Amino acid sequence: MNILIFGPPGAGKGTQSVKLVKQHGMSHISTGDLFRNSIANKTSLGLEAKKYMDKGELVPDPVVIGIVEESFEKLKGQGFILDGFPRTVPQAESLEAMLKNHGLTIDQAVFLDVNHSLLLKRLTGRRVCKSCGSVFHVYYQPPQNEGTCDKCGGSLYQREDDKEEVITVRLKAYEKSTNPLREYYQLNKKLVVVNGDGSTEEVFEQIEKILQT
Ligand code: AP5
Repeated sequence: MNILIFGPPGAGKGTQSVKLVKQHGMSHISTGDLFRNSIANKTSLGLEAKKYMDKGELVPDPVVIGIVEESFEKLKGQGFILDGFPRTVPQAESLEAMLKNHGLTIDQAVFLDVNHSLLLKRLTGRRVCKSCGSVFHVYYQPPQNEGTCDKCGGSLYQREDDKEEVITVRLKAYEKSTNPLREYYQLNKKLVVVNGDGSTEEVFEQIEKILQT
């Protein structure tokens, strides 16, 4: 099963992808994580992406498509999840061409539909481990010891783009550029809408049911 998972910032794309990987051993590509790694390694691509990410804007399509193309080999296994890519219609069109070249297809485009009133709380409360990247939440999934990762003991930080003023820009970018993907995948008969308002487990159950049909 090859799927992509999309939705607004804070919808739970990363959280659900991690659970799917654990359950099914699929390959996982998150463009947000690829950019954050590039930034941490101070590569020229990372420095370019940072200019946009810090402001909450989308990284330009050619840069995003380039980084996905470089990671494509990773997708030739036993199914994959694309998390946060594509995020614009031109990216979706490029993805289709890339997949065709590699003899691959997308089976389902899973849209996580979350009430916008929940997104701000999910994003401002998110904390990420500096060492292993595990994601926590101050209300929904607090670590046992405040500020410390349960898995590796690393320290937790708040993402720069999880500050309220940046979140507003990210939500606008989502409405303008990513929301149109719903229609794109509906026309392609790949769209599946999942209600992402419930608990992490409830949302995961819904996704699992879809994957089994
Ligand atoms: P990226 O990191 O992909 O950010 P995003 O799409 O804004 O999504 P998030 O990572 O913020 O949220 P998520 O949906 O994964 O939520 P999560 O599971 O963590 O991209 C960052 C930036 O990179 C972009 O702004 C852009 O600049 C650039 N970029 C990346 N890809 C790009 C592309 N294709 N094109 C152009 N630019 C690109 O959950 C959030 C929090 O809520 C967590 O704390 C979690 O514990 C909690 N939570 C999750 N689910 C639940 C639940 N069901 N109940 C309660 N809490 C929950």
